[in-house]
Amino acid sequence: MKPLNLLEYEPLARAKLSAMVYEYYAGGANDEVSLRDNRASFERWRLWPRVLRAVAERDLRADVLGERWAAPIAVAPMALQRMAHPEGELAVARACAALGLPYVVSTMATCTIEEIAEAAPEGLRWFQLYAFKDRAINRDLVRRAEEAGYRALVLTVDTPLLGRREGALRTDFHIPDGLREANLRPYEQGQLADMREQGMAGQFWRTFLREDNLSWDDVEWLQANTRLPLVLKGILRPDDAVRAAEQGVAAVMVSNHGGRQLDSVPSSLDALPRIAEAVRGRTTLLMDGGIRRGTDVLKALALGARAVAVGRPVLWGLAVDGQQGVEDVLRLLLDEFDLAMALSGCHNLAEITRDLVERV
Ligand code: FNR
Ligand code: LAC
Repeated sequence: MKPLNLLEYEPLARAKLSAMVYEYYAGGANDEVSLRDNRASFERWRLWPRVLRAVAERDLRADVLGERWAAPIAVAPMALQRMAHPEGELAVARACAALGLPYVVSTMATCTIEEIAEAAPEGLRWFQLYAFKDRAINRDLVRRAEEAGYRALVLTVDTPLLGRREGALRTDFHIPDGLREANLRPYEQGQLADMREQGMAGQFWRTFLREDNLSWDDVEWLQANTRLPLVLKGILRPDDAVRAAEQGVAAVMVSNHGGRQLDSVPSSLDALPRIAEAVRGRTTLLMDGGIRRGTDVLKALALGARAVAVGRPVLWGLAVDGQQGVEDVLRLLLDEFDLAMALSGCHNLAEITRDLVERV
């Protein structure tokens, strides 16, 4: 029997994956306090449904940065998807396109920006940028994303260094033979080529390549070097979100990186209402972290998100059944969200208002 919900995909995927890949995908930083809280925080909010509202017709479509999505749900950027399934990012891109949902492609994809675009030309894609010390690399990645028709640039700002994930350390995480961070190939010469041999936990990530000095100046630099709308991913503090809004950033993704970076930060959901209150509509808010149920999407929207992104369940679906598995996962979430809207008396996203939720 097919899984009945997103949570049921994880054990099925785990049975298919090596311990190393599973630990890398599933794990969080250190004690995983923030990882657990991403889920637990959804249980701290209750819904106050409206009744007798003739909900037979519902419109789930979302307008985000000038585009229309089938529902307010994107796939979050996640590295190294071919470890889950041979088709990796290509399968995820096709599944998203089939459902009319956007796919945020990671810099650390195992297929190139261009291959992913070609796999599903009709799909809507954003490109997640990990900034490199060498700005020529950043400029080139941005150019490639623009030329391949990606519609927004997502700069991840919570990862100047990689968090310490003990599960990955314990299983000696390395990129499996035959796979690579496909987007970086054009920039790999000399020292860089040697370093990539040491895998993700090695020098490659820690010192040479990644911009661990990332600052607001880089945000400005990016804005000046792209015609795409810029999204900052990984903001938890209201003052940072306000600064982003004041600097003209198109959207902020409220996120704790799936609990994988600094442990003991609040859940994304707990950060969201404070940020919404501080930003007061001056920029678009997105959120990710722990979205597993349709009611989670409803809660996040009620607390100020225009849309959410879903991470690990997509990898689990991919591992279980490739493109079909990803479609099944996203369809389940869409159907649950649709049902949650109907049962809470909402015809469209504008009716998902703050008074629908209360913290317990
Ligand atoms: C991530 N995430 C991530 N974020 C990013 O900006 N660039 C990346 O390359 C990755 N890679 C990555 C790999 C894996 C295996 C995971 C699980 C996560 C973080 C991701 O975009 C997102 O913030 C969280 O995964 C959302 O939380 P959930 O839905 O997984 O709980
Ligand atoms: C991670 C990086 C790649 O979370 O963002 O593993």
